[in-house]
Amino acid sequence: MAHLFNRNVVLGVCGGIAAYKAAFLVRELQARGADVRVIMTRGAEAFITPLTLQALSTHPVHRDLLDEEAERGMGHIELARWADLLLIAPATADCLARLAAGRADDLLTTVALATAAPVLVAPAMNQQMWADAATAANMATLEARGIHRVGPADGDQACGEVGTGRMSEPAAIAERAAGLFEHGALAGLRVVITAGPTREALDPVRYLSNHSSGKMGFALAAACADAGARTTLVSGPVTLETPPHVARTDVESAREMLEASLALLPACDIFIACAAVADYRPEHAADDKIKKSEERLSLTLVRNPDIVATVAAADPRPFTVGFAAETRDLLAYARGKLERKGLDLVVANDVSAEGIGFNSDDNAVTLLWAGGEAPLPRSGKGSLARLIVQHIAERYSASRAGL
Ligand code: PMT
Repeated sequence: MAHLFNRNVVLGVCGGIAAYKAAFLVRELQARGADVRVIMTRGAEAFITPLTLQALSTHPVHRDLLDEEAERGMGHIELARWADLLLIAPATADCLARLAAGRADDLLTTVALATAAPVLVAPAMNQQMWADAATAANMATLEARGIHRVGPADGDQACGEVGTGRMSEPAAIAERAAGLFEHGALAGLRVVITAGPTREALDPVRYLSNHSSGKMGFALAAACADAGARTTLVSGPVTLETPPHVARTDVESAREMLEASLALLPACDIFIACAAVADYRPEHAADDKIKKSEERLSLTLVRNPDIVATVAAADPRPFTVGFAAETRDLLAYARGKLERKGLDLVVANDVSAEGIGFNSDDNAVTLLWAGGEAPLPRSGKGSLARLIVQHIAERYSASRAGL
């Protein structure tokens, strides 16, 4: 099954008997990972209720061009911008004619004009209407403009006739929709990324932590989502916005980060540990704020669980990528971590150099794996993340091919 991970689909439903299949189509699109919002024409409401499509899509159904409510929230321009795909199913003969004429007198045709996203139509009508020269000319006009088509199919029609005009089956439409997208290097894979620092409580108001901002991990998440992966961030406390199409679980401590990561493992093909996890935590977190009554205060610290090593030792295990933040002997220490923690790939990060590493916009790393290495020179964390993700995709494919 082709996928639509990270894709926003606006489904336009027109008034024809096949409109009832829109309910199944919403499900098929969602099963491929799409987020679906529905536009209904007035005619469609005669065949299926907005409530049905609202319940299935889990979003309000959009019906009016000049709807004050909608204009304040998701107006036609916002809807047009939100879409990665405008799919019109069923597309009636009237709808094809109005699209071909460039009309903008209802919400659906207006969104069709206003969107830069690809448009896919699934025509459905009486076989004679489909064969009519006017419909054929309208469809040819639309296809010449780059609008995609799926169907119509042959067979028995609701009107009792037999011929070409039935709307394609929802699964076939969803497959065609998914096939329109160029799939990235991580298409269809599920990636979990730890990011940011952890906080280890000393008392209710104090904690041990570090200077990780989360920027590197969040940039990796954005790059993985762009590469087609279903991406989840397990993030320590940071002040960053979640990248588009990325799910996020927030945690505080190393133990919480471990628990959240393990919960995601059953649906994880690639695990990337970018978080700066505190290696130690106070043995006891005081219930009340520690008073400064003593001249000296001793803390006993105990080791935290090693999250990435735990993941790498799981059975079955995902392809596991760790970072190594070092201030000296970078490559030697990093290769040690690759072997000791049982990783597939390690990203060696020199955090002693000015302007890279913790809480900076730039970074420079060397990727190490059994039998190879690749230095990636200093650049912004966004572009570096895209390069790292390319390498991860290559190493992942090689590992699956047993190379
Ligand atoms: O967040 P930024 O400000 O953008 O900074 C990015 C970064 C410098 C934090 C990032 O690029 C980085 O180097 N992350 C790893 C930091 C680190 O803690 O490295 P480490 O060498 O101590 O740990 C080795 C690996 O084990 C890491 O993948 C780490 O996530 C993991 N680990 C460590 C300890 C632990 N208890 N559990 C772990 O999973």
